[in-house]
Amino acid sequence: MNILAFESSCDETAVAVVRDGRTVLSDAILSQADMHALYGGVVPEIASRKHVEAISGLTDRALSDAGLTKKDIDAVAVTYAPGLIGAVLVAVSFAKSVAYSLGVPLIPVHHIRGHIAANYLAFPELKPPFLALAISGGNTLIVDVKDYTDMEILGATRDDAAGECFDKAARVLGLPYPGGKPMDELAQQSPGGVYHLPRAHVDGADLDMSFSGLKTAVVNLAHNAQQKGETLDRAALARDFARAVSDELVPRTMEAARRSGRRTIVAAGGVAANSVIRADLQAACEEAGCTLFVPPLALCGDNGAMIGAQGYYEYLAGRRGGLSLNAYATMDL
Ligand code: KG4
Repeated sequence: MNILAFESSCDETAVAVVRDGRTVLSDAILSQADMHALYGGVVPEIASRKHVEAISGLTDRALSDAGLTKKDIDAVAVTYAPGLIGAVLVAVSFAKSVAYSLGVPLIPVHHIRGHIAANYLAFPELKPPFLALAISGGNTLIVDVKDYTDMEILGATRDDAAGECFDKAARVLGLPYPGGKPMDELAQQSPGGVYHLPRAHVDGADLDMSFSGLKTAVVNLAHNAQQKGETLDRAALARDFARAVSDELVPRTMEAARRSGRRTIVAAGGVAANSVIRADLQAACEEAGCTLFVPPLALCGDNGAMIGAQGYYEYLAGRRGGLSLNAYATMDL
């Protein structure tokens, strides 16, 4: 089954063709990150307009890269939530027209389910049940993936997402948007151990996380240094910051695995590209005797293939969107 999949929830326009949920035939992506970097973050109106400009050309490219024509498409999948509402609407509207004109089913896909499904593309042997740590620019979730379309959130951030926190800290350190990757590169230049950054604890919900205090601590450190004319050890701060984020994520993930009895752990989302978090997860899984799957870097960030992968399993579960399908800024998993 060939699924044509669309993604436009943030600042990447992506169109892919995926066969039977596991094989990527094409994956065309156009990132707008350079444009938003001029403003230090995503400007929603610009994001929507750029998606409108890009989506039909990317669709042609996805079909030609796959060596297919539109007659070979059996279904259309699209991210319908969560994300920047004006941005999500672009792919939803486009996907509805394509499904209507081809006369094929339309499958709505939750963006975070898509991130988790990116792992099915990289690891043919991976099957639910497993525990997923989904860490992106807008979401931070520990999820019990009981089956392909049956998931339960065991822990979540109470405020900022991990990626958002990386982006804000990077801005304070004078790094370009999106800041996660440059922060990671800077962090690799220092062993850290210089700055003491806070770790959060949510009373009564010990698998939940909080990143706002950490973000504020970095902002305050930078402002105080500026006021006093002191120089920050930026590389050490980047390293200590990554360690603090990892300390929020990794022990809770392992505890969630212990409580749910899952022995397989899967990382997903743009922040799963982080070298400190990847190494900490690997070490924790080895110690606990768990198997870890972390997607290759190209499948960590937003892409259309992951929507095609999850779309296939949503299709098998009977999920369909009608022509009244809407876009949503937030949505339960
Ligand atoms: O999954 P993604 O591409 O988009 C969303 O669905 O949000 O994630 C983007 C986020 C950004 O916040 C970006 O700074 C972060 O992932 N990111 C990283 C790294 N690479 C990307 N964060 C930490 N370390 C990285 N190496």
